[in-house]
Amino acid sequence: MASIGVAIIGAGGIALANHLPGIALCRDARLVAVCDSDPATLERARRQTGVAIASSDWRDIVGHDAVDAVIICTPNHVHAPIALAAIAAGKHVLCEKPIAMDASEALAMWRAAEQRGVRHMTAFTYRFVPAMRYLAHLVSAGAIGQPRHFRVQRLQDWGTRHLGWRQQQRFAASGELGDMLSHRIDYAHLLVGPLARLSADARQFVAERDGQPADVEDWVAILAAFANGATGVMESTKLATGCGEGKDSPDRCEVNGSEGTLVYQLGQPHHILRAGAAAGGLQVEAVPAAFLCHPGSPRDPAAGDPLVTFRYDQAVEFIAAIREERPCVPSFAAGCAVQVVMDAALRAAAARCWVDVTYPAP
Ligand SMILES: NC(=O)c1ccc[n+]([C@@H]2O[C@H](COP(=O)([O-])OP(=O)(O)OC[C@H]3O[C@@H](n4cnc5c(N)ncnc54)[C@H](O)[C@@H]3O)[C@@H](O)[C@H]2O)c1
Repeated sequence: MASIGVAIIGAGGIALANHLPGIALCRDARLVAVCDSDPATLERARRQTGVAIASSDWRDIVGHDAVDAVIICTPNHVHAPIALAAIAAGKHVLCEKPIAMDASEALAMWRAAEQRGVRHMTAFTYRFVPAMRYLAHLVSAGAIGQPRHFRVQRLQDWGTRHLGWRQQQRFAASGELGDMLSHRIDYAHLLVGPLARLSADARQFVAERDGQPADVEDWVAILAAFANGATGVMESTKLATGCGEGKDSPDRCEVNGSEGTLVYQLGQPHHILRAGAAAGGLQVEAVPAAFLCHPGSPRDPAAGDPLVTFRYDQAVEFIAAIREERPCVPSFAAGCAVQVVMDAALRAAAARCWVDVTYPAP
């Protein structure tokens, strides 16, 4: 196969930060098209990338002959229509998280991609952090015995600043749940497995941001019962006053098993914390060299900022799966599973009760 032609649809923050450098890392792929509904953003992206194909309408892009694969980086409300059109045109699709507005949309995307036989991938970028890759390996190898408790906390202080489409339900579907907790629900599936049932609460404390109305939750928590008997506590907020944001704010994922404990922290992408069953407390452990890059990534793990560069391995996985004609990891199956949990959490929060979690088949 010749070089894989990739189109980016939605040339905003995440396209520039993660996807353009990710494609640049792939030796057997090249960016051929950009799309953004905002003319100024489109023009900036066209100049920056130098691509010949640029349009403000994604319909011009998804069926274009030069395009083999599409990366969807728009706000959430247009993920599904763009993905379904691209799939119908036989294009491979990498879609930003959350992949859809609800589980029925996500399931339709997963089914359509399977039926059309194209590669499909969800941008759960933090699976590619070396420390998370190593943690997943250790848990599945039985290093902490039987997982009993799963715990995540994403605590940031975004104050009352305007969040654009993120603060409106009609564009985002949910607030903190889809924006931040979706990645951590994916950790739960990766590290512990499917949920059997959950209870949840979601609250909105700030209803106006820089004078603009907001109608999504800015704090969310899920209490989870996993199918294997483990328990989970997941919390995420944009209003942890004074805690900072991004890499400088608390982001912790912990699994306690019968034989030990493992901890991942966002600010330490090349280290984990580990404790054995004997008293002695958590010890810092360096991630072994074999886990510092995704297999096949040409990246030098010592080059660049380790808090940033792991993100580029996501594109390497997408392109490799297309080339090798195998499923992407994580695929739309993972995106759909997270969407099922998110829908259940919103139902439980509204009804103030526990709800069963049932995952659909493709
Ligand atoms: N994987 C991650 O770590 C991660 C991080 C940030 C954002 N995201 C996800 O990426 C997506 C985009 O987020 P962002 O922060 O880049 O947002 P953004 O607002 O910075 O960029 C979105 C871009 O899409 C464009 N757009 C809107 N509607 C469009 C349409 N119909 N057709 C074409 N372009 C359109 C906007 O003009 C904008 O330039 C969201 O789904 C978000 O949840 C994922």
